[in-house]
Amino acid sequence: MSDSFDLPIRPRRLRQQAQLRRMLPRVTLRRSDFIVPVFVREGSGVRQEVPSMPGVYQMSIDVALGELSRRAEEGFGAYLAFGVIDRKAKDTSGSAALDENNVVCQLFRKAAEKKIPMAGITDLCFCEYTSHGHCGPISADGSTVNNDATVELLVRQAVNHAKAGAAVIAPSGMMDGTVGALRGGLDGAGFADVSILAYSVKYASAFYGPFRDAADSTPEFGDRRGYQMDPARGLDEALLEAQLDVRQGADMVMVKPAGPYLDVLAAVRGAVQVPVVAYQVSGEYAMLEAAARNGWLDRERAVLESLMAIKRAGADLIITYYAELLAKLLKE
Ligand code: PBG
Repeated sequence: MSDSFDLPIRPRRLRQQAQLRRMLPRVTLRRSDFIVPVFVREGSGVRQEVPSMPGVYQMSIDVALGELSRRAEEGFGAYLAFGVIDRKAKDTSGSAALDENNVVCQLFRKAAEKKIPMAGITDLCFCEYTSHGHCGPISADGSTVNNDATVELLVRQAVNHAKAGAAVIAPSGMMDGTVGALRGGLDGAGFADVSILAYSVKYASAFYGPFRDAADSTPEFGDRRGYQMDPARGLDEALLEAQLDVRQGADMVMVKPAGPYLDVLAAVRGAVQVPVVAYQVSGEYAMLEAAARNGWLDRERAVLESLMAIKRAGADLIITYYAELLAKLLKE
């Protein structure tokens, strides 16, 4: 007699009925799960596609505001702003990052004026503003980013962004002690209610390549391995980074990239009591798009599956470049 006759447990039973299949999913995606990245630059009427991220655009503020209004109507709750500035405006210390009138500050002020009902998040970093493309000023011996000098500058940048109307500050530079310093600086400047989303667990990843096109932030020499994490290190380091940030006052923590680090995401989810955000980065987007554009993958199914996996691994919120497609695919 074949084994199958005395199998009491048959998982397929629940798969046969379309109605039950519809009722049983535990992992669901809503538009409000997603944070929408936006690349802003000078000018007006500018909408320039990023070559390595087809479907993603650098936009002038007027165009970005239109896009954000539409996303807000669709039910997306937050955007993440990146500033793209002219090469000529960059210097070794990234001073344009501290200009209260730079594109990021302008975007926040105008979004507040227009009362766009989305939380504004700033990616707090210097790599888009330094001539060498590193995430802060370089130490005297030229070897790497000067941690403590960078943290001081980040506090000033954060206070500027808070003044301009940012609801959430997201430091992405991987400098030690950033979160505690930001909390103190923001509180001292009267911004106790501005939240901190820490890029706590951020790997030195090949998957940021296309973003560096989009934000014009490729390091001129070396790489970011002196401050971003080594993918070959174990989970302990990830948990340490997340816990350090929570202890210093992070309101939410992030794991980045998302797809290749689902194990890390799940471990961080289990170790902290704050919301966990995952960043489906530019390279993850570029891979899906390249395959979809070649007809090698079904874009809609593959994108939803990739995001479902990130949510199932424990993400409360996901940063993704797929807002446009998600507005089409998700009802709310
Ligand atoms: C800035 C920053 C980067 C990304 C987000 N913020 C680039 C980097 O660290 O080199 C990458 C995002 C993406 O790839 O989509 N430090």
